[in-house]
Amino acid sequence: MRTVAQHIADRLGQFTPKALLTLGSGLGALANDVEDATVLPFGEVGLPDTTVPGHEGRLLAGHLEGVPVLCQQGRVHLYEGRDVSETVACVRAAAELGAEVFIATNAAGGIGDGAPEDPTPGDLMLIADHLNFTGENPLIGLPTPHFVDLKDAYDPQLRAVAREAAQATGHPLREGVYAALRGPSFETPAEITWLRTVGANAVGMSTVPEVIAARDAGLRVAAFSLLTNVHLPGGSTTDHEEVIDVGSKAGPRLAAVLRALVPRL
Ligand code: HPA
Repeated sequence: MRTVAQHIADRLGQFTPKALLTLGSGLGALANDVEDATVLPFGEVGLPDTTVPGHEGRLLAGHLEGVPVLCQQGRVHLYEGRDVSETVACVRAAAELGAEVFIATNAAGGIGDGAPEDPTPGDLMLIADHLNFTGENPLIGLPTPHFVDLKDAYDPQLRAVAREAAQATGHPLREGVYAALRGPSFETPAEITWLRTVGANAVGMSTVPEVIAARDAGLRVAAFSLLTNVHLPGGSTTDHEEVIDVGSKAGPRLAAVLRALVPRL
């Protein structure tokens, strides 16, 4: 059986991406900036199709600011009933094709304390570390155990470069810990209290398995959350429409940061 990387290579010929960029909920617009793009619908290269509104389900190969990239417009999630190996298939394929860097983006809920420095909807957050509450790990069941170190999973040097890129664009960039839950229901007030207590600054339903697979494959990782909503003490309602809406309004700011980041890789 042909692997995803082989399918992609068949379509692209000689093309070595420097980076894989994965665009989360409502953030797909950056894909429009990819030049000389070859568009590969997930289904045509053996990737599972996504069922989520706001997730296109296609892979673009081309250049962003002159840098060869693969751009994954939309992703599959555990809550779609997918196996964890399917959620990381694109990351593994990018590594096989020679990518060195994985840049992940997602929509997430910020976790505030009711303090003036709390996040507000539309803020950008650089992920400094994660909490894996998905109950999954893409390295389970590999033929030999992969005891991958995750101390600096979110590469400190890339984080410094990301801060520089954000500064160059004039867009403020928070930094914090991203907690991944399986979803798809949003969090209860009690779960938010628990997440705040254990040190989460944002909560979402993706990215963490991909980052683990990326580190296993030797890719350096930078990851960004667009905080589409904010959970405050006492509880807050969350809806997917709002996530998409704030995501697409604030998306151009994250896109600008990524365009500034990519040439600095
Ligand atoms: N929780 C989980 N996932 C999310 C949220 C949230 O509040 N906002 C956007 N994605």
